[in-house]
Amino acid sequence: AKTPVNVTVTGAAGQIGYALLFRIASGAMLGPDTPVRLRLLEIPQGVKAAEGTAMELADCAFPLLAGIDIHDDPRAGFDGANVALLVGARPRGPGMERADLLEANGGIFKPQGEAINAVAADDVKVLVVGNPANTNALIAASNAPDVPKDRFTAMTRLDHNRALSQLSARADVPVSAIRRVTIWGNHSASQYPDIFHADVAGRPGAELAADESWLLEDFVPTVAKRGAAIIAARGASSAASAASGAIDHVRDWVLGTPAGDWTSAGIWSDGSYGVPEGLVSSFPVTSAGDGWQIVQGLEHGELSRARIDASVAELVEERDAVRALGLI
Ligand code: NAI
Repeated sequence: AKTPVNVTVTGAAGQIGYALLFRIASGAMLGPDTPVRLRLLEIPQGVKAAEGTAMELADCAFPLLAGIDIHDDPRAGFDGANVALLVGARPRGPGMERADLLEANGGIFKPQGEAINAVAADDVKVLVVGNPANTNALIAASNAPDVPKDRFTAMTRLDHNRALSQLSARADVPVSAIRRVTIWGNHSASQYPDIFHADVAGRPGAELAADESWLLEDFVPTVAKRGAAIIAARGASSAASAASGAIDHVRDWVLGTPAGDWTSAGIWSDGSYGVPEGLVSSFPVTSAGDGWQIVQGLEHGELSRARIDASVAELVEERDAVRALGLI
């Protein structure tokens, strides 16, 4: 039998955790032949609820679930982690400025980066879901000097999937017939969902994008502000769709992206497309199971270039703010 993969999930008692853990344990993330050992990391107030979730996980009798343990200390929670899903974060409270938010999250992601550096497995792969995801990933990566930077990623897969869904409805084709959509930049309202290089059931995405009023007044803001629309409708933020995006991200990272397609992920920039090195920005990426590669050689018109630059400028501001706070 294969050795179980250790998967650490932070914020395990939260609403995304509740939607995520059962799918990991069922094999949806790492495939039907890979047993998993779940390590749930919570803050002390979350431990009791995490114990309840662990009871339910046990009650599912998942054949692939090799064990569950619960921790409130990052050094124990990340011990031997092969995959780490950093979901728990500090939400923006009323009247909280961006600097306060970044500082509060720095208090979570700096020690978690240090713990990953100290105790995770050599092959650890990290996905940050907790917001502000890109900058939280930057903080964690910067505090884990012994772990290669390309192992720290931030989730824009939910945005990517939202773009596929909106495009599918617009073009009246199934999502499975759409390829090569990209989310660029920050997982925030400044993100740029790019369909200029897409293949929409054989039709060039640029043809759909030519309707600029639809593109700029409907498609782009619908994707970028979908999180707020879900909160308005559901009275709670996206949870199952966020968990599904996290499953897709890790599955494609580990098992590979389909031939002829790519996906979107926030990764440590190597300077591609003029994104300053060392920012965690969303790019078009492929994986053959051995790490993310940025898709090269895409040409951008003025519209796309300006949108990408604006989102990247926001990432620069966030980086400068966490640098000023001594978090990186
Ligand atoms: P939630 O509030 O239901 O759960 C968060 C959990 O994290 C709580 O149980 C809390 O006790 C725990 N937690 C807080 N600090 C922790 C720490 N230092 N270590 C371990 N656990 C800790 O929140 P929900 O809905 O599950 O969302 C989690 C995060 O995901 C939020 O930051 C949210 O903004 C973000 N998110 C990101 C998306 C993306 O596309 N990147 C999409 C949707 C949500």
